[in-house]
Amino acid sequence: MAFINENYLKLKAGYLFPEIGRRVREFAAANPGKDIIRMGIGDVTQPLTPAILKAFHEGVEEMGHKNTFKGYGPEQGYDFLREAIAENDYKLRGVNISADEIFVSDGSKCDTGNIQEIFGNDNIIAICDPVYPVYADTTVMSGKTGVCQSNGYFDNIVYMPCNEANGFIPELPSSRPDLIFLCFPNNPTGTVATKEVLKQWVDYAIKNKSIILYDAAYEAYITEDTIPHSIFEIEGAKSVAIEFRSFSKTAGFTGTRCAFTVIPNELFAYDSKGNPVAVKPLWMRRHTTKFNGVSYPVQKAAAAIYSEQGKKEVKGLIAYYLENARIIRESLSALGYTVFGGVNAPYVWVKTKNNLTSWKFFDKLLDDANVVGTPGSGFGPSGEGYFRFSAFADRENVVKAMDRIKNLTY
Ligand code: MLT
Repeated sequence: MAFINENYLKLKAGYLFPEIGRRVREFAAANPGKDIIRMGIGDVTQPLTPAILKAFHEGVEEMGHKNTFKGYGPEQGYDFLREAIAENDYKLRGVNISADEIFVSDGSKCDTGNIQEIFGNDNIIAICDPVYPVYADTTVMSGKTGVCQSNGYFDNIVYMPCNEANGFIPELPSSRPDLIFLCFPNNPTGTVATKEVLKQWVDYAIKNKSIILYDAAYEAYITEDTIPHSIFEIEGAKSVAIEFRSFSKTAGFTGTRCAFTVIPNELFAYDSKGNPVAVKPLWMRRHTTKFNGVSYPVQKAAAAIYSEQGKKEVKGLIAYYLENARIIRESLSALGYTVFGGVNAPYVWVKTKNNLTSWKFFDKLLDDANVVGTPGSGFGPSGEGYFRFSAFADRENVVKAMDRIKNLTY
């Protein structure tokens, strides 16, 4: 008899974005010819930029010649990419991260889920509420939680409600977690953490021997100079944090797949006897056993982001999406909606009107304006009554969507 992992049975609904996709497909089938504007899942719409595309082509070309062909690459990623990351994303910001602390992967979604495997199931995980659903769902899948209660919270997870009252910045938890997921710029609320806020978290983690799992997938969208791009800009963070970064939203790689995770050499967790164990070698063991690396042409394309021309082009891409975010923010604000985020992030977090639930607002928007967004409650109970708009859309669609929302009647 084959037994299943019963932790999967604890999960409530399907994964959020396929669920939205299913509802939209149903609507489209029932309403053929409707021009549906998608601002739900944060999936990029603009093509790879010329410098990146050129490097990608060159990489493919090299694979077709005997003298430049490549088989398995280094599991941790090619040196040329890891060195470019260390130099540009860290050293240029005054942060000392070396290439050997960087693991190139096929996505931060996978890494933030997979990382749990190297930590024991007795760890208590803290997550924000609302939160990128991957952290919560993979915590459940890994067996670190109890069952889901009627309030939507799983037993054995420390939830950190983020709401208007605390500016969507989590407060330090009253009960001590072992692993703490933080994401800034935040998905879904679009808020950012100052150096002071992150310092508080790093100090807390040091004091409690906790580890911060820091998702910085949207750091490229930070526009304010004082906001840190990496948790490693905070003193002491290298002994308590893992950072996840992605090229998906930075350079349009959602379909191309390339990301990286940084595990500092000085990061330690503990065995059951309380002995410190370095974390990086465990992840190295997992990575080399279960992963054969990102394809050479993709890594070559990713490295082109760090060329002078690549940097310029990627900046343009980000400016395009940020302008979309500005249009969403300002249009909805002018219509009397309460809006958050969208300044240092590609997401705008909006309070629904007339106290509609998030899913009721989703239905109204889909039915009456043919616009798709993401219901806030899909990110956790504290997201109820909110709605997320993604700025990763074509400009004309953003403008059209805002126009349609203007004509909504309640
Ligand atoms: C989102 O919409 O939250 C993201 O696209 C999800 C992801 O990056 O996996």
